Amino acid sequence: MEIKIFDNYNDLCVAVADEIIGLVRKKHDAILGLATGSTPVGVYRELVKDFQAGFTSYKNVTTFNLDEYVGLGSNWEKSYRSYMDNNLFNHIDINPDCIFIPNGYNANPDLECEAYEKKINRHQIDLQLLGIGSNGHIGFNEPGTAFDSVTHLVRLDKKTRSDNSRFFNSLDEVPLLAITMGIKNILKSKKIILMASGTGKQNAVFRMIQGPVDNSCPASFLREHSDTWVYLDKDAAGKLE
Ligand code: GLP
Repeated sequence: MEIKIFDNYNDLCVAVADEIIGLVRKKHDAILGLATGSTPVGVYRELVKDFQAGFTSYKNVTTFNLDEYVGLGSNWEKSYRSYMDNNLFNHIDINPDCIFIPNGYNANPDLECEAYEKKINRHQIDLQLLGIGSNGHIGFNEPGTAFDSVTHLVRLDKKTRSDNSRFFNSLDEVPLLAITMGIKNILKSKKIILMASGTGKQNAVFRMIQGPVDNSCPASFLREHSDTWVYLDKDAAGKLE
């Protein structure tokens, strides 16, 4: 696991975006694994800026997102699909047929997990982007998730629902369930970049890098992958020795 520390959130986002842009320019049909949450917003902003300046095309790129809420009801605009459209997909030239995100509106979420798993297994992700939850989750792989887990339906942790309630009108509106790629899917990616920003992530980052490798902190499993990079701002790195 390699670690890079940046002065601030903006520098962190520019550096992560440069990695993605570099890959897509070299490999036009790259397969990207994408993440949501507030942390990657600045990365997507940089990708859009670069695209609008005419530098990089996403015409042949394929994307797989990590996860999606189940049970949003009329709150479609809170879905990760809607987040991705607003922050990235609506602003670049990606082929809509090459965008994959679990469908949280499938009436049978277990079948949706099976279908998503099949799709992922037909590809290998070149670069997987990750954030980290304050409880050490990656995607929605909550503490307790098995190392060999594949795409599955998950009951969200109390802490995760409370952290993510800032995107909703109230805690009650935050879905109880989600679909997420498993740890095994994430670890199959050729390269992984996990990014974290802010003091709220200090404990999770410390635990991921310097704690034991076990399912009490799912992000610690990334230490089993040979090409994982952790991009941090100074605040998120604050507890590292
Ligand atoms: C959600 C997502 C994760 C993300 C995490 C942290 O739970 N499922 O993929 O890493 O939130 O989000 P944020 O970047 O907003 O702190």
